[in-house]
Order: sequence, then structure tokens, then C-alpha cells
Amino acid sequence: MSLKSSIKTVLTLGQGVVTGIPEAAADADPIELFRSWLETAVEAGIHEANAIALATATPEGAPSVRMVLLKGIDERGFVFYTNYESRKASELDANPKAALCVHWAVLERQIRVNGTVSRVSEAESAAYFETRGRGSRVGAWASLQSRPLPDREELEARVREVRERFEGSDVSLPPFWGGYRIEPTAIEFWQGKADRLHDRLVFTREATGGWSTQRLYP
Ligand SMILES: Cc1cc2nc3c(=O)[nH]c(=O)nc-3n(C[C@H](O)[C@H](O)[C@H](O)COP(=O)(O)O)c2cc1C
Repeated sequence: MSLKSSIKTVLTLGQGVVTGIPEAAADADPIELFRSWLETAVEAGIHEANAIALATATPEGAPSVRMVLLKGIDERGFVFYTNYESRKASELDANPKAALCVHWAVLERQIRVNGTVSRVSEAESAAYFETRGRGSRVGAWASLQSRPLPDREELEARVREVRERFEGSDVSLPPFWGGYRIEPTAIEFWQGKADRLHDRLVFTREATGGWSTQRLYP
């Protein structure tokens, strides 16, 4: 092993260039694998390990991408929260397909997901909204996310107005705010390896509900 590879091995806690992705069993669950890689990233001390790049597109196919925080993973898919009147929301409402990508550099790992998107229930959004700090809840009410803001003063004035409105009471879930769930149709795991001979393993959802797997050249 070269000196560079040895250093990488130390930096990646031995995972980057030493351990590949094992052959997936026919019944392997890629959502569980996603969860386990995210857990490893959190344990490695990566700040905001749940930050993902979320790609959406207009019905005409013009793409846009931004970071969001992944707030839920279960067998139904991947959940993030946002303003339902934002640019991403209007793109998703018109074209309910999305892709996400997460990269944990120190672990030399990347995961890509493609899927179809739907809004989570209001009850699910409300339950998550409850867990946010009061400041973030006020911020959700105050922000007209993605729309033009003439100056910072206007935002601060809106925040003051929301604070006054909810003084002495709970900050409820705004009707224009909530979650989306990406139900995956494909999930690709990428593990960096020495000499750029990386491991790539793609799980594709079958019509039967199970997953097929395929390795790809790096
Ligand atoms: C690390 C990180 C995490 C973010 N998390 C969220 C999030 O969970 N929800 C959200 O609406 N915006 C989040 N943002 C802000 C978005 O990147 C983006 O600016 C905003 O959602 C407006 O995007 P849009 O105009 O494409 O709708 C985050 C930004 C960063 C850098």
C-alpha cells in the first residue's frame, strides 16, 4: 500500500480504501444500508452528516439543486422539511421527481437516491415542527422562502410581528410548511478505494417491491 493510501486509511477510520461494499444479498435492504452509513458518519463526528444535496426539476427538465437536512428515514423513504411555497416545492408539485446526493469525504462515501416525491401528512409535519426550537418555528412563519426580499429590515420586521402574534402561546405549524418524502426507485452506494478503483453498488426497485442489485464500473 502506498504512503498516500496508508494515510487515507487512517483518515477514513480504515473504511475508505480497505473495506469495499460487500456483495449485496438478494434480500438486502438499501434503506437499512443508508441508515447504517449515516450512523457511521454521525459516529465519525461529521458535522451535519444528514445534510443532503436535493435536486429537483421543472416539468421542462430545467434542474436546480440545494442542500437540505434529512430528517426521517423509514421503509417508505427519505423525509425533509421545507416551505411549501418555495422554489423547490413548486418544482416538486409540478414534477414530483427528485434526486438526492450525500458525500462524507472523510469516509470516502457517497450515496445517490432517485425517487418520486409526495408531501408527508400534516400530522407528521406537525410532530416534527414541535421538535424545532422556538426561534426556528418563528423563522418558518416569517420567511417567504425563495421570494424576493427587498432588504434585511423587512425580514426582521416580519420576525418581530410573528413573535408578537404568538407571545405566550405555542408557535403552531404554518399551513405553508411541511415535509416531503422521497420514495426511492434507485439507491447507489459509492465507496472510495485505492487507485480510483471505487466500489459502486446500485439497488433498483422492482415492480414486485423488492430490489435488484448491480455493480457499476467506477
Ligand atoms: C446545510 C444546509 C441545510 C439546509 N437545510 C434546509 C432544510 O432542511 N430545509 C430547507 O427548506 N432549506 C434548507 N437549507 C436552505 C436551502 O439550501 C435553500 O436555500 C432553501 O431551501 C431555498 O431553496 P429553493 O429556493 O430552491 O426552494 C439548508 C441549507 C444548508 C446549507
